[in-house]
Amino acid sequence: MGKRGAFIVIEGLDKSGKSTQAATLLRRLQDSQVSAKLIKFPDRTTTIGKMVDSYLRSESELDDHVIHLLFSANRWELASSIEESLKQGETIICDRYAFSGIAFSASKIRPGSHSYPLLDYAWCRSPDIGLPAPDIAIMLDVSQDVAQARGGYGEERYEKEDVQRRVRDVFVRIGEEFEGSGGKWLVVDADEKPDEVQTVIWDAVKDLVKGIEGPLEKLWD
Ligand code: TYD
Ligand code: MG
Repeated sequence: MGKRGAFIVIEGLDKSGKSTQAATLLRRLQDSQVSAKLIKFPDRTTTIGKMVDSYLRSESELDDHVIHLLFSANRWELASSIEESLKQGETIICDRYAFSGIAFSASKIRPGSHSYPLLDYAWCRSPDIGLPAPDIAIMLDVSQDVAQARGGYGEERYEKEDVQRRVRDVFVRIGEEFEGSGGKWLVVDADEKPDEVQTVIWDAVKDLVKGIEGPLEKLWD
């Protein structure tokens, strides 16, 4: 049996350069004749994705539990096609995944409180249990100053300084737990120039993209 493709997740705050790095990596893989594709979450094109899109653009209000589950459901919609592509030997680069799901939801705080969580951390983690686990999760870590210098955050819900700061803290905990469950979590300094960031990413994935012998793991097992 041939080797399966690698499942590479790129995570980070808004303005960390995720989409740029993901696109650059895809081009590099294609130039090296590696069969690869790029996907992103939320996938705003599906029925569930359209609900997520409308929430992010503040065109609709949803209970915080509901939107959390919709983000997760949006990943489950794609889960079997991810597995199938990997099995066919295709490498997948994924722009945001379940780690963003936990980080953005678990960092929400109760109105009027400074730090009291609105949603329980373990609860936030649970709907994604069993999803395909990435072979590596690359966390692009950008400082607030550099994010601002890159034109600041956009108009969407969550694209605010205080939200991003709290999300970053939760990402640290998630990384530790992912490593604890046997996963590979790489924090990359995304304040650096795009070329330098890409060099670090390439170094981390160059062996994985030759194909993987072992089975695809499941998240949080
Ligand atoms: P983002 O990748 O920034 O989309 P775009 O590139 O289209 O701006 O994702 C949109 C927002 O959704 C971002 O602020 C992070 C948030 N998010 C969650 O809250 N939960 C999730 O599960 C995911 C995947 C993203
Ligand atoms: Mg964004």
